[in-house]
Amino acid sequence: MPATTATAPGKIILFGEHAVVYGRPAIAAPVTQVRAEAIVEDGEWAGIRLHAPDLGRDYWLSEALEDDPYARAVLLVAETTRLDPLPNLSITVRSNIPIASGLGSGAAMAAAVIRALTRHLGYLNQTTDEQVSALTYQVEKLLHGTPSGIDNTVVAYERPVFFVRQQPINRIETLSVKGPLRLLVADTGVVSITKDVVGDVRRQWQAEPRRFEQLFDHCSRVAQVARRALENGDVGRLGQLMVENQNYLREMTVSSPELERLIGTAMATGAIGAKLSGAGRGGNMIALVEEEVEAAVRAALVSAGATNVLTSVLT
Ligand code: MEV
Repeated sequence: MPATTATAPGKIILFGEHAVVYGRPAIAAPVTQVRAEAIVEDGEWAGIRLHAPDLGRDYWLSEALEDDPYARAVLLVAETTRLDPLPNLSITVRSNIPIASGLGSGAAMAAAVIRALTRHLGYLNQTTDEQVSALTYQVEKLLHGTPSGIDNTVVAYERPVFFVRQQPINRIETLSVKGPLRLLVADTGVVSITKDVVGDVRRQWQAEPRRFEQLFDHCSRVAQVARRALENGDVGRLGQLMVENQNYLREMTVSSPELERLIGTAMATGAIGAKLSGAGRGGNMIALVEEEVEAAVRAALVSAGATNVLTSVLT
């Protein structure tokens, strides 16, 4: 059988990170310039061989550690398709999404593996976005402890989403953004482990539940107003809401000196709004810009220490 390839994009959180873990709405969008790719081929040897050249790893599924995300993705597909044992396969995963930087690299790699493998096995039902997202969530749990589900959703749907974590099923609405909205996505170069930051916010919430519930409520209002502003293409309002959201994230102590420097630089050179994106304490920030100032803001971000700057245009 020919090889089967699938990809999944990176992501940014536009509004509502952290609060989304506590049932408040959040908005995320795909970043399609960076992607994870999985290639599944029939194997020549007995067993399933995993290749992760970016990580310098090449190993058998049977030897993978308990917390190996690729192995977990493959085993989840085996359980769901009830194809046990799976045929002999070679699975290669590559990604140019920076890891531990808030761009959803873990979710994208898992989603790419799950999509490529279910397709290769001819298990067509499993290739719906909803099902890819659900399986990716199981891998995210391994990596992140208590993920809200927004990362797996946006990388599987590849559309801007308005997301609310709720029982029995999450509220997922894909958004029609009145674009183009131009965002610069700048990396502080500081590694940020989502699980640790989410755990730290949880400890603070447990110590000061009233204050944190209020902060989450403020973020909820921001996300709801932002949704309308995105749908109406109200760039000025979106910028104000980003600044407001950043104030609440700072109060949650998830900003950092490096993030603040890039956010301050972007605002000082003409960005309409700027905030951290994802778990914070490092990773990426986003700045909303008009096309005329994009080059100047980008240059200023690099001078201020950004290790990488992408442009993401929402249409
Ligand atoms: C991570 O991209 C966003 C967080 O809200 C965690 C989550 O939603 O699982 C920080």
